Amino acid sequence: PYPNLAPRPPMGWNNWSYYSCNINEKVILDNARALVRTGLAAKGYDTVTVDDCWMAKQRGPRGELVPDTTKFPHGMAYIGQELHRLGLKFGIYEDVGTLTCGKYPGSYGHFKEDARLFAQWGVDYLKADGCNVPRPAGRTKEQIYRDVYEQQSRALLDVGRPITFSVSAPAYFQYDGDAVWHRVIDWSARLGNLWRGGRDIALEQQSPATKWSSIVYNFRYNAGLAALQRPGRWNDPDFLLAGDSGLNRHEMQSQMSLWAMMAAPLISSTNLAGLSPEAREVLGNQEIIAVDQDPLGEQGKVVEQNDGYTVMSRRLGNGDRAVALFNAGDAPRTLSTTAAAAGLPDAPSYWLHNLVTGHGRHSGGTIAARDVPPHGTVLYRVTARAGGQDAAAG
Ligand code: GLA
Repeated sequence: PYPNLAPRPPMGWNNWSYYSCNINEKVILDNARALVRTGLAAKGYDTVTVDDCWMAKQRGPRGELVPDTTKFPHGMAYIGQELHRLGLKFGIYEDVGTLTCGKYPGSYGHFKEDARLFAQWGVDYLKADGCNVPRPAGRTKEQIYRDVYEQQSRALLDVGRPITFSVSAPAYFQYDGDAVWHRVIDWSARLGNLWRGGRDIALEQQSPATKWSSIVYNFRYNAGLAALQRPGRWNDPDFLLAGDSGLNRHEMQSQMSLWAMMAAPLISSTNLAGLSPEAREVLGNQEIIAVDQDPLGEQGKVVEQNDGYTVMSRRLGNGDRAVALFNAGDAPRTLSTTAAAAGLPDAPSYWLHNLVTGHGRHSGGTIAARDVPPHGTVLYRVTARAGGQDAAAG
């Protein structure tokens, strides 16, 4: 398998959802500096990824990829240097087909030389998309994709620089039936460190309602993949939208909490230079980040789900459980589960620590939250207690 370069879910920032193709050196570096200034970099958001549309439409005279010099007048090695100077890692987008999704040159037929160039530029993370992959007759779609992603993975290994590898293949098989799609996740997990599934999180110009439904869609989809995730091999349900997105505080908080429950990569896509204090708090909540980055690396599991709500539980390294009570509906709702249903050991009492408010309380075994707001999530870290006085207090 590809080396385990991401023992914890990757964290960082990517321009795509907020800026789409409207990127340049200033946008990328201003956001990188904001990542440091807001303290988010120190909390683990350390990889800045330049998504699609950074290239010129044609390769150079020697077949090499060239950046769009209007957008990136100092070239990509400079971006790498500046990010490294800030203590950050450099991520870049390419595609295993002939063209990227935005119709810029893809790496198909150029995997080795492109990987060498990325290494020269100081790239630490590659997101390899799967648009425009040629489909010669006589081979299945799965064989074709597997072959190109194997070539990409091998090319990265051969350059001898550790480059975290994000594989998009599963996103191209999500409508092809469970059997093939699960096999694709299986080989993606061996060829890289994380992989995209589900749909794209909505773009900045789309409505808040569309953004919210893209979050709920990817949450439900990704929650169903818990059995296919292993520590160091991460399901990626796409970007966090906390920021200038039109989502309300509960919606931003829900996404952050649910992504942490799923041990998902935490990749912000917003304008960090204008980050509201509220969004900064959501993204920077250290106890929730600690759940996401928990050393066991186990994706949380759905305990109970219907259209109106989801209860999830995640096993943590110190024996605690993280329990999320998510109200998907449009009216406040009291949600509850039990310590036993959440997988906690039998104990006289439990300590429920609310990771958003910071408040704690005892409970005899019911894990409940009153009047969870519409689209809101209450996230507890639950500890089994030996009992005695503690139990009496609950
Ligand atoms: C696909 C990916 C997005 C983004 C665009 C760029 O849609 O899923 O995350 O990279 O391509 O064109």
